[in-house]
Amino acid sequence: MLDLLLKKRSGLELSGPELEFIAAGAALGSIPDYQLSAWLMAVFFNGLTKKETAAFTRAMALSGARLNLKGVKGAKVDKHSTGGVGDGVSLALAPVAAACGVVVPMMSGRGLGHTGGTLDKLESVKGFKVRLAPGRVVSQLKATGLSMFGQTAELAPSDRKLYALRDASCTVESMPLIVASILSKKYAEDITGLVMDVKYGSGAFLKDFKKSRELAVALMETARLLGIRCVALLTAMEEPLGLAVGNAIEMEQSIRILQGEKGPADFMRVLEVLSGWMIYLGAKARTPEEGEEKARRAIVSGAALEKLRLLFKWQGGDTRAADNPGRFLPRAKLSREIKAVRGGYLTRLDSRTVGHASVMLGAGRSRAEDTVDFGAGIMLSKKLGDKLRPGEVVARLYASDAKKLSEGAKMFESALATGPRPPKKEPLIREIIK
Ligand code: URA
Repeated sequence: MLDLLLKKRSGLELSGPELEFIAAGAALGSIPDYQLSAWLMAVFFNGLTKKETAAFTRAMALSGARLNLKGVKGAKVDKHSTGGVGDGVSLALAPVAAACGVVVPMMSGRGLGHTGGTLDKLESVKGFKVRLAPGRVVSQLKATGLSMFGQTAELAPSDRKLYALRDASCTVESMPLIVASILSKKYAEDITGLVMDVKYGSGAFLKDFKKSRELAVALMETARLLGIRCVALLTAMEEPLGLAVGNAIEMEQSIRILQGEKGPADFMRVLEVLSGWMIYLGAKARTPEEGEEKARRAIVSGAALEKLRLLFKWQGGDTRAADNPGRFLPRAKLSREIKAVRGGYLTRLDSRTVGHASVMLGAGRSRAEDTVDFGAGIMLSKKLGDKLRPGEVVARLYASDAKKLSEGAKMFESALATGPRPPKKEPLIREIIK
């Protein structure tokens, strides 16, 4: 390890076996934390080449078990979002793509800080289980073409260790380490295609568009070197996506869309474009546009809702939530309307602050060990650029206790501003990197 530290400190390229040694050592605990941390800092300053990034990603994935999807027919496509506020798109997207014949093994994460997590949203459905053994994921994919689950201790264990060390050594923001962390978990899924939704703007993991674009390009290049077909969308996260922010509340928004209700325009557009690409990469459409058309038909015909019902059934969730979400999903008992103080245009609806408000209401976590209140959250009735009359309702907030409701309301109000003219909005889908 001393030789490898010296090599990276001098800016030299490490070989595949050397990177495997480090990834395996992180997973097994055979390399001390201080040496791993020092190596991470050397990478932070000297970077990894494209070849090293791909080799390290593969080594991290192979530091644990890998799903074996050879026996599952067809292309296997997952989607990854770098995270945001109100970004519950996966909840509708996965069933839509599966209803169009794509095999969708979707490994998701939990919410942390201002961002929400798909696993928490799924767990708002009573009984729904996200901890699935790899064998169970494979049999579910064979039978239904869809499974949504969390990272287990067996999958990419070196990522768990290295992420904790990065967090403790100020090395999280290293581009090759971010790429290896994200893609090692995807490579461990044995997928053939991946659609990346890289967010930019206030509520995104990387706020700056240029940095987000750099990440998108690096993810694409590495995925390709690993033999995964990939596309990356750069989408705006200046304001929350859609109208719902929370867990059950976002689940309900997605269920209603699958039931055929007209969803919020920005959410629908991102859903359609991501679906189009998933269906295209899954070889079920000749173009992404044809994929979008198939996605729309899967919603209208009810096939996507049927897939969601099947997902709930296979993973222990209450299937009645798919038919009557208003009755069978939790909703916190206290609520408060937030009204516009002044008239004008909504010029600020800062997604990071809205995300923090939702954590204060109980819907998210400040620390990984916190529990979430599935019924807490925010239902917006206005979006950035909307015209407001004084006293008009901007949002309704939900919480289980009065203190959380007051604190969340104060934080939410600080996310807002009004002005005499509509704001200049960032394009929703600024670029698609193919
Ligand atoms: N998401 C991950 O999974 N890993 C990172 O390093 C950053 C974001």
